[in-house]
Amino acid sequence: MKVIASYNGQVAAERTFQLLTDGVDLPTACVEGVVLVEDDPNELTVGYGGLPNAEGIVELDAAVMDGRTHRVGGVAALRNIRNPARVALRVLQKTNRVLLAGEGALQFALAEGFTEENLLTEKARKIWEHWRQTKQTDWRPSAEAQLDPDVAAYVATHSERPWGTVHLAAIDTHGDVACVTSTSGHAFKPPGRVGDSPIAGAGLYADNAAGTCGSLGHGESNLQNCSSFLAVELMRGGMAPLEAGLEALRRIELHATPSERGTDGRVKIDVRLYLLSADGRHAGVSLQPGNRMVVVGEAGTRMEPCVALYERRPE
Ligand code: GLY
Repeated sequence: MKVIASYNGQVAAERTFQLLTDGVDLPTACVEGVVLVEDDPNELTVGYGGLPNAEGIVELDAAVMDGRTHRVGGVAALRNIRNPARVALRVLQKTNRVLLAGEGALQFALAEGFTEENLLTEKARKIWEHWRQTKQTDWRPSAEAQLDPDVAAYVATHSERPWGTVHLAAIDTHGDVACVTSTSGHAFKPPGRVGDSPIAGAGLYADNAAGTCGSLGHGESNLQNCSSFLAVELMRGGMAPLEAGLEALRRIELHATPSERGTDGRVKIDVRLYLLSADGRHAGVSLQPGNRMVVVGEAGTRMEPCVALYERRPE
């Protein structure tokens, strides 16, 4: 049994591992792990407290895929519900559909007993307000001294339009696999923008015969290259998780647009892929260096480095 997750998913992976140990069904155990990250107000890229869209409204994307049945449930641009992964699981379990979006996803969640709440925390609102006031000019580090401490801390460590997500995948004692991806998407995105996270084959994919893959990063790249599907198919063809992940990243690199590249021609965006093969091997890969992943197994919890396609670029 093994659970892997993105760098921000340690509590999620540990909870999922415990739930699986307790005999909870695989997709439910994966979702209930991710719920801990969705509930965290200090995680600015997922669930409650996630950074809002350009209009200051939090819109969430999430999906869960069951490798046993090849079934997927997802929600996109969901407002006012803090646990989109739980709603995605209901889509999987209770409908013949795969993906519900916007108002329809909200109405489905309400019919399933979820309750609406304001997901925009004061911290996220202040960061959004700062972005709104400075978006014509980029972040202005010289003004940091006058900034609210939450905003200053954020501006000092993030690019102008930051992104993030949580991905978690598990293989249980039967060798069954499942995975979940949940996000508030690119900060300050256009209303209605849906990224890769709720789309099977892009932000996640699971097949008992081959394994799983899921992603953080520039969602448009995964949407245009079907990265998670590609990586799982490469594992099906016999590649190890590490090689499959790096090959999927090379495809993104090949197809990157000029605006996604720096002056040296290298892509300046980042995409991270987390892979788990059907025989229980795992890997984390990224375009840019400096990323880590969480691995939880019988021996406990480890943080492992992701293997970067690019070495660190010169400053
Ligand atoms: N990968 C998350 C997003 O692009 O929304």
